[in-house]
Amino acid sequence: AEANVGVVGLAAMGGSLARNLAHHGNKVAVFNRSWGRTEKLMAEHGSEGEFYPAKTMEEFVASLSKPRTAIIMVKAGEPTDSMINQLADLMEPGDIIVDAGNAHFPDTIRREKAISARGLHFVGCGVSGGEEGALKGPSMMPGGTKESWETLKPILESIVAKAEGEPCVTYIGANGAGHFVKMVHNGIEYSDMQLIAESYDLMRRGLGMSPSEIGDVFEAWNHTELESYLVEITAEVLHETDKKTGKPLVDVIVDHAGMKGTGTWTVQTALDLAVPVTGIAEAVFARGLSSQGELREEALKQHFEAGRSGLESMPLEERQAFVNDIREALYASKIVAYAQGFNEITAAAKEYGWDIDLAAVARIWRGGCIIRAKFLNLISDAFESGEANVSLLFAPYFKDALETADRSWRRVVSRAVNFGIPVPVFSSSLAYFDGLRSDRLPAALIQGQRDFFGAHTYQRTDEPGVFHTLWAEPGREEIKES
Ligand code: 6PG
Repeated sequence: AEANVGVVGLAAMGGSLARNLAHHGNKVAVFNRSWGRTEKLMAEHGSEGEFYPAKTMEEFVASLSKPRTAIIMVKAGEPTDSMINQLADLMEPGDIIVDAGNAHFPDTIRREKAISARGLHFVGCGVSGGEEGALKGPSMMPGGTKESWETLKPILESIVAKAEGEPCVTYIGANGAGHFVKMVHNGIEYSDMQLIAESYDLMRRGLGMSPSEIGDVFEAWNHTELESYLVEITAEVLHETDKKTGKPLVDVIVDHAGMKGTGTWTVQTALDLAVPVTGIAEAVFARGLSSQGELREEALKQHFEAGRSGLESMPLEERQAFVNDIREALYASKIVAYAQGFNEITAAAKEYGWDIDLAAVARIWRGGCIIRAKFLNLISDAFESGEANVSLLFAPYFKDALETADRSWRRVVSRAVNFGIPVPVFSSSLAYFDGLRSDRLPAALIQGQRDFFGAHTYQRTDEPGVFHTLWAEPGREEIKES
């Protein structure tokens, strides 16, 4: 038994993770359901480090030193369960099974319970950064027992991305906490991407700019507070020319956005927790709408009157000012989406008994992951100092940023409405902000309606207790129910 860590599942992500481990001095056992894939990995990359290829699961487990640590990187769902069970049957108490796939956190909670009952450790570990990240340094979000973290820490710290010298991995919390945080990361990823897409759309259809001109704008924005991986790659995508037609590539790509489910989970879970994550929800729905081909075709056939831009005659200076407004609106809406995502983590931590350090979560998202961004430094500072305890929106830096963006944000949303260009995340983020800061909300009226038709009762602003109005009685008597 020589290997200090093993990887099960050697498709793109697993293979890259195994190589990354080997590049950093780990002795890596590798196993794949079909031997062909293991052979291929060894033929192409076997010389990059110390590997222990195994033909059977028995051989794989036998090659691991104790406590055995096996990282599973296979498809979420049944394939994961099957691998976990095979491993657990061969392992001994104290050994560690890490699921590094995109599992849904309730599955992780269930698996952790079953595996820990057998004396083994089960770690649900979120991994972000795609294939390149897995190979060169991902961001990792492990959840499980503290004890297993002691063993895993040096192994994972050796392979993750570094942000300002700090490894982008931290212990997140018990059982499903790691996969939960990865899920919210993906929800935020959806809103970030949709906000960038809305900004693009406003410049494209609203201002009539070309993809490459817009690419230049994003490139410039990447040197502002918006500096991030997603803004950077957006510029690259917009500058890409299609080899076949010579057109901008973005113009030949079918405009139906795909999704594999993590954004949807984020929203479903938020609904269960009653936490508004409106930015993420609208981003998921926007992908859904884009893919409703039949509906969209029919709507086009109906020749609805288009929105009016009135921008053809806009002087250059004003156009530039509008692009600047879009940048401000993007930043403000992004802050709202992150605030909502962190609220969801806080609510879940309470519900599931996790002790999650939000500052640490923001810190490990600074490098390696898809949403890595400069402003995560400010977010981690805001949580660290306690300024963001209630919401990120109230930490002085973010409060100022929202106030600075306020006028621009409103101009962008109102102009978009006039253009007939949908900006669901810009506008829902603004509505969330306006809702929060309202002195009185029309929810009072809703309470009145509920009491009217269903005797659901209400509370009064001037007196404690629960009240019901006898709406049908002459003179409308009010009774205090408790
Ligand atoms: C990451 C990504 C990764 C995956 C997304 C894509 O953090 O590395 O989020 O997990 O690429 O799940 O999701 P969709 O297919 O749903 O867009």
